[in-house]
Amino acid sequence: MTVTIKTPQEQDKMRVAGRLAADVLDMIGDYVKPGITTGELDSICHEFITTVQDATPAPLNYRGFPKSICTSVNHVVCHGIPGEKKLKSGDAVNIDITVIKDGYHGDTSRMFFVGKPSVQAQRLAEVAFEGMWRGIEELAPGKHLGDVGEAIQSFVEKQRFSVVREYCGHGIGRVFHEDPQVLHYGTRGSGIELREGMTLTVEPMINAGKRQVRLLNDGWTVVTKDHSLSAQWEHTVLITDTGYEVLTLGNSDR
Ligand code: MF3
Ligand code: CO
Ligand code: CO
Repeated sequence: MTVTIKTPQEQDKMRVAGRLAADVLDMIGDYVKPGITTGELDSICHEFITTVQDATPAPLNYRGFPKSICTSVNHVVCHGIPGEKKLKSGDAVNIDITVIKDGYHGDTSRMFFVGKPSVQAQRLAEVAFEGMWRGIEELAPGKHLGDVGEAIQSFVEKQRFSVVREYCGHGIGRVFHEDPQVLHYGTRGSGIELREGMTLTVEPMINAGKRQVRLLNDGWTVVTKDHSLSAQWEHTVLITDTGYEVLTLGNSDR
């Protein structure tokens, strides 16, 4: 396993890429309304990333992925492919944006509600959000990746929701998915020790029902096996000398 340490110059490029990815999510929120298709959301983001940001949407053609963003609706856990599906009131959709700028990646996702969510969908999204932050708050030099996983898992399971095991966060930089794997479950003190200059994502997928997932025949779409709702949030984070810096904060968080 090779975990890359980013130089101060590379860290600056990661800051730029991270901000651009967050800007796309800030931009697309207003379009998430009943009747819009996930394919239309993809087109709007693609146009914004390539034209306004002069950046590259990392998912497009990544290992054969056919679109520029991921849209994961309701019981879709992750990697939903944008298409003809019209969003309707009550849907909960995760939009996951990864941009490449000046050779570096920024990766972030949020939950959006179409109209008014059910009590359960709202609660699930809140727990996924809080779980992500509990994980991020563990990040500092000398801490272990297992501390992150344990913080997320113990919080989420106390709320009687489950943590998906098959997909995880990751190192990120010039490469979209690099070492290490950032598990969203685990044991304190286990896993690699964190060092200043590492850049990682924290992106827990949380299910209302059982943790098991199934991959659809399209080779990408991951759904909950029991068809229960799933929620996810993601930030790209830099390990600093004293702790962490979140590189993908939105307009309202900075
Ligand atoms: N953005 C996803 C992640 O958080 C990866 C999407 S890969 C794709 O790691 F090919 F589906 F786009
Ligand atoms: Co990611
Ligand atoms: Co992502």
